[in-house]
Amino acid sequence: MLAMLNKKETELLELFSEEAIQKRIREIAEEINAVFPKDEELVVIAVLAGSILFASDLIKRLHMPIQFEFVRLSSYGHDQKSCGNVKPVDLTLPGLEGKNVLIVEDIVDTGITANFMIDYIKMQHKPEKIKFAALLDKCCARQKHVDIDFRGFEIDDKFVVGYGLDYMGYFRNLPYIGYFPQ
Ligand code: IMP
Repeated sequence: MLAMLNKKETELLELFSEEAIQKRIREIAEEINAVFPKDEELVVIAVLAGSILFASDLIKRLHMPIQFEFVRLSSYGHDQKSCGNVKPVDLTLPGLEGKNVLIVEDIVDTGITANFMIDYIKMQHKPEKIKFAALLDKCCARQKHVDIDFRGFEIDDKFVVGYGLDYMGYFRNLPYIGYFPQ
């Protein structure tokens, strides 16, 4: 198994370098700093596990008081295609009523996960303001419309790994984002 994964990493083609990702995150953080007041608390909800690196780097650059929270959803299993429904694994959150909320996702593919999360937070928690950030937007694969307020990069319909994104649980630790040639 490890030999197979090592071999696959050498086959990866880089799509976004570490430097390009970090530069874009600095730009997105500036956009977020301009939208949310500096003196109001912002609850940043990272959708685990894929968004953990993006959300962690992003919050370091935000200027308002941040409460960092996590939810865990599963939609892919061990395949490269979304199974089409969201399995909430852990939606434990503090009360968000009247608060400013930013949901952070690694990638929007079909849009099913993002739709679920935004609707769930709006309906169950009634925040004051809710915005949605995604590092990657695979817009050509969209099945459900999603308003992405802060977007890192648009990508083609490729399966990508690295910088939090995984294949069968691996490659999340890569500092860059890449894909396997077909
Ligand atoms: P969606 O519900 O189809 O939009 O998929 C959302 C989730 O699928 C993301 O949060 C990722 O965890 C996963 N996903 C979608 N595309 C990719 C990919 O190219 N690589 C790794 N994970 C992906």
